[in-house]
Amino acid sequence: MNLEELVLKNRSYRRFYENVPIEHEMLRRLVDLARLSGSASNLQPMKYMLSVDQKLNASIFPHLSWAGYLKDWEGPTEGERPSGYIIILGDKNITKSFGCDHGIAAQSILLGATDKGLGGCMIGSIQREGLRRELEIPTHLEILLVIALGKPKESVEIEVIGPKGDVKYWRDENDIHHVPKRSLDEIIIN
Ligand SMILES: Cc1cc2nc3c(=O)[nH]c(=O)nc-3n(C[C@H](O)[C@H](O)[C@H](O)COP(=O)(O)O)c2cc1C
Repeated sequence: MNLEELVLKNRSYRRFYENVPIEHEMLRRLVDLARLSGSASNLQPMKYMLSVDQKLNASIFPHLSWAGYLKDWEGPTEGERPSGYIIILGDKNITKSFGCDHGIAAQSILLGATDKGLGGCMIGSIQREGLRRELEIPTHLEILLVIALGKPKESVEIEVIGPKGDVKYWRDENDIHHVPKRSLDEIIIN
C-alpha cells in the first residue's frame, strides 16, 4: 500500500473478529512508531499501557463510549469487541500540556495497524476516573486517548458531504458504515 491507500484504508473500525488475537509484541511495534513521531519541544511525554489479555480487555471495555451518532447501537457486542488496546497517557511529571502529541501518536499507531492488516478506533469518550481506578493508573498520568484494535469485521466507505452539510456517519441496510467527508474545495480557503 502506498501512503494514500494506507490513509484511505485507515478508517475508524468499531467491530472486530474478537477471536483473532493480537500479539503483545505487535502492540510494542505500534508504540515504537508513536515513539519515533513528532513531539512538541521533543519532550516526549506520552506513556502507554498495552492490553491483549482477554481479562484486561474486558476491564477496559465498559469505560469506553462508541459511535455517538449511532443512537440505536450500544457498541460492539461480545465476539465483536477489540482484541487489544493501547491507552495513551500524558506524563504530567514531564509537562502539564500535551498539545497534539497524543493525536500524532495515535495516528502513527493506527496507520501502522492498518499496514499490518489490523484496524482500530481512537476513543476520546472515556469514563476516565472509572478506568483509572480499574487499572490503578497513577494520578501523574493523564488519560488522553484509548486506541481499540483488532481485525476489522465491518466495511467503511467514505462519502461526500451532502448539500445539508451533515457530518453524521451512518450505517446502511447492509450494515456498511458510511463516513461523510468535507470536500477539498470546502476546506482549502484560498
Ligand atoms: C480525537 C478523536 C476522538 C474520537 N473519539 C471517539 C470515541 O470516543 N468513540 C468513537 O466511537 N469514535 C471516536 N472517534 C472516531 C471518529 O468518530 C471518527 O474518526 C470519525 O467518525 C471519522 O471516521 P474515520 O476515522 O473513519 O475517518 C474519535 C476520533 C478522534 C480523532
